[in-house]
Amino acid sequence: MLQQEDINKVDAVLDDASGQRGILIAVLQRVQEKVGYLPEEAMKMIAERLSLSLNNVYGVASFYKHFHFKPRGKNVVKVCMGTACHVRGAKAVLTEMEAKLGIKEGETTKDLSVTLETVGCVGCCALAPVATVNDQDLYGELTPKMVDDIVSTVRSEHGTHV
Ligand code: FES
Repeated sequence: MLQQEDINKVDAVLDDASGQRGILIAVLQRVQEKVGYLPEEAMKMIAERLSLSLNNVYGVASFYKHFHFKPRGKNVVKVCMGTACHVRGAKAVLTEMEAKLGIKEGETTKDLSVTLETVGCVGCCALAPVATVNDQDLYGELTPKMVDDIVSTVRSEHGTHV
């Protein structure tokens, strides 16, 4: 259930958008920025105010990997599964990351501190296999043994309790 505070945020985004179907993607982006993800209630509000069907709104949003329909963690760890990383052991790194965090790829810890995702090539193939934290910190030449350090760093530097 969406909290009133978040409903107000969605309302504010939609205030300037009534009936303007052409700005659907911009509205989705702004709502996600404000609320953190795209809850079903928000999607219904968007559909109603832009005079679109809910199916249409979901159809557009789900086309883009950028949009999320569940709450995400304060920190997002991405393990690269591109070809170079895959060949050099990314699967083992991902498996260890899942074990250490207690979640599967695509999931978020219960305390909403960390979301674990996979990603295609991040452009650092020479350092494969790699992972990123919050699209800022890059960890290269990973082995499963290094996963503990990354999780500890996410805990300490990013103020989480994984
Ligand atoms: S495949 Fe992972 S950085 Fe290129």
